[in-house]
Amino acid sequence: MTISIDFSDKTVVVIGGTSGINRAIAEAFARHGASVAVASRRQEKVDDTVQSLKNLGAKHALGAAFDVRDASAVASALADFQAALGDFDNLISGAAGNFPAFGADMSINAYKSVIDIDLMGTIHVMKGAYPHLKRPGASIINISAPQAYLPYETQSHVCAAKAGVDQITRTLAMEWGAEGVRVNSVVPGMIEDTEGFRRLTAGPDIIERVIAATPLGRTGKTQDVADACLFLCSDLAGFISGQVMVVDGGVYLRGSGQLGQDLAGMLKSA
Ligand code: COA
Ligand code: NAP
Repeated sequence: MTISIDFSDKTVVVIGGTSGINRAIAEAFARHGASVAVASRRQEKVDDTVQSLKNLGAKHALGAAFDVRDASAVASALADFQAALGDFDNLISGAAGNFPAFGADMSINAYKSVIDIDLMGTIHVMKGAYPHLKRPGASIINISAPQAYLPYETQSHVCAAKAGVDQITRTLAMEWGAEGVRVNSVVPGMIEDTEGFRRLTAGPDIIERVIAATPLGRTGKTQDVADACLFLCSDLAGFISGQVMVVDGGVYLRGSGQLGQDLAGMLKSA
């Protein structure tokens, strides 16, 4: 079977799209000819990504530097993207922060930093993008995490934030569905060669143990997550909304397993 994917008349905005998984998502849309806008805090990462998007075949590529914790900066940059590219067919919201830390050891500001980036940042992006969504037809994807539905030691801040992200997905899918706007979450599993993976690497043999625990017998690649986003933003997914799509080779079926205990052990022995 051949499935052809063509985003050449589509506008895609990827917030937090300048490294790792989200950059791979932006680049996948660029390869399929979309007009792509990316944003994150660091201008040099934005510039490097925009150049890559152009090289890969994006019809138009542009970027902006802002912090998702600043609601007015988010709204202003999204309005600029709309002015340059038109209404958004697809919006990916994936900026996030994470570090392993015990709840008892985290300051209030440590909790607040992660919740402000992951959860409030998602709200700022959804609110800022709302006036600029293509109606009908827009597809929004919030990049979530297994912490949304599985508790892990050292991850209480991320667990709280990402659970909120998935509930925003479900609730706004109901509220915005009548306007022809779909809202879904995508949950990456353990994705190799990413900042998130590096920060949660508990012990030298972690990759082997992740592979052993994963029914499909390998770690994830950024392209696996990008492929899921291409599908969810395509016409093939036109009746899918309010869903949390887990892209992890089936490892969630085993629950949080050993990883939380490994992370706790790593911090205790540090
Ligand atoms: N353990 C405990 N607390 C920590 C911590 C750690 N490893 N790292 C940061 N904190 C605390 C800081 O001490 C600070 O609290 P304080 O003001 O009470 O001291 C608070 O978190 C904010 O830290 P700061 O470095 O000022 O935040 P920032 O806004 O510059 O950066 C982070 C946000 C901390 C989330 C940073 O790791 C980041 O920018 N991450 C983005 C990349 C990333 O995490 N990628 C993986 C995505 S899954
Ligand atoms: P990453 O490379 O650190 O990507 C995070 C992106 O968000 C970067 O572009 C970063 O760029 C930007 N960003 C961070 N804080 C920001 C802020 N305050 N304002 C604006 N932009 C900000 O991490 P990743 O590992 O690929 O993770 C990407 C997404 O996948 C996240 O949502 C994460 O929760 C999710 N996830 C990852 C894994 C994994 O295995 N890696 C597993 C599950 C879920 P700047 O530094 O320039 O701001």
